[in-house]
Amino acid sequence: MCGVLYSTTEMSEQPQGSTKIAGALTEASAVLRAAGIIEARPHARTLLEHTLARDHAFLIAHSDDELEPSALALFRERVERRAAGEPLQYITGRQEFYGLDFEVNPAVLIPRPETELLVETALELLREHDAAPLVCDVGTGSGCIPVALLHERRDARAYGLDISTGALAVAARNAARHGVASRLTLLVSDCFDALDARRAQTFNLITSNPPYIAESDLAGLQREVREHEPRIALTPGGDGLSVIRRLVAGAPRFLDAGGHFIFEIGYDQHETVARLVDGNVWTLLDIRRDLQGIPRVVVLRRREPHA
Ligand SMILES: C[S@@+](CC[C@H](N)C(=O)[O-])C[C@H]1O[C@@H](n2cnc3c(N)ncnc32)[C@H](O)[C@@H]1O
Repeated sequence: MCGVLYSTTEMSEQPQGSTKIAGALTEASAVLRAAGIIEARPHARTLLEHTLARDHAFLIAHSDDELEPSALALFRERVERRAAGEPLQYITGRQEFYGLDFEVNPAVLIPRPETELLVETALELLREHDAAPLVCDVGTGSGCIPVALLHERRDARAYGLDISTGALAVAARNAARHGVASRLTLLVSDCFDALDARRAQTFNLITSNPPYIAESDLAGLQREVREHEPRIALTPGGDGLSVIRRLVAGAPRFLDAGGHFIFEIGYDQHETVARLVDGNVWTLLDIRRDLQGIPRVVVLRRREPHA
């Protein structure tokens, strides 16, 4: 099984005592480096911490400890998966987002740091509502957006919609893990369809990090994204904007007058998206830039209907 990674040649080049923690780490780092993984050493360390269910301090304090054969075999198998391009987060099953630890698996997009800007923006807008705001997150995936919001705003409630039942199962576990499940309703839904069927109440805020990558840009993504993250989470096909078009057209029906709709966009989409926004229905308040200076979060406010 580990033939590629631990061939006789490679093994003969390994430091003696590679069944000890320090040696196993050195060996794994070399394997990951040879496979082109940039953060080879930190990834090796994370995989060993995960395998032993121990933290970094333990690895340092016990660097001379022998690894159990079963732990070593499991560690090597995980290193092999990482070397083959599987994202670290799918191997460990975890990703930190907005200071919280989220479960992830291949049914969900791995939450990205830039999406924290969407959460920050949402929390800012929710400050206008002093009592029990109601939020709807479309394309909720791991549930990272509504779970982070509900964790911060203890009086809020939210709906999380996703077309993927596999994603919603992960979102439900994340909501339970962070103690917000009783305030989060999860629905299988193609955009707003499930809300249409339920004639649900209107929301103070709608959030979304929709699939927005143009089909022609897929080939240029990192291999580990392209080959491992769910295609439905990355792209709706075509120019990447079909879900955004549906959300911009559909959201007003589910928003209170004066309510906000905020959503994430791709690095080159702000001008096109600004043109999609009907000025009779929406006020385009802002397109916020992320830490790289990329226009990332579109902030719309539903206009008050004319008297
Ligand atoms: C970019 S991911 C975002 C996941 C999560 N909100 C996050 O920020 O990490 C987009 C999500 O939208 C879902 N999705 C794709 N098309 C959809 C549609 N037509 N209606 C509802 N959800 C959809 C995907 O299943 C995926 O979970």
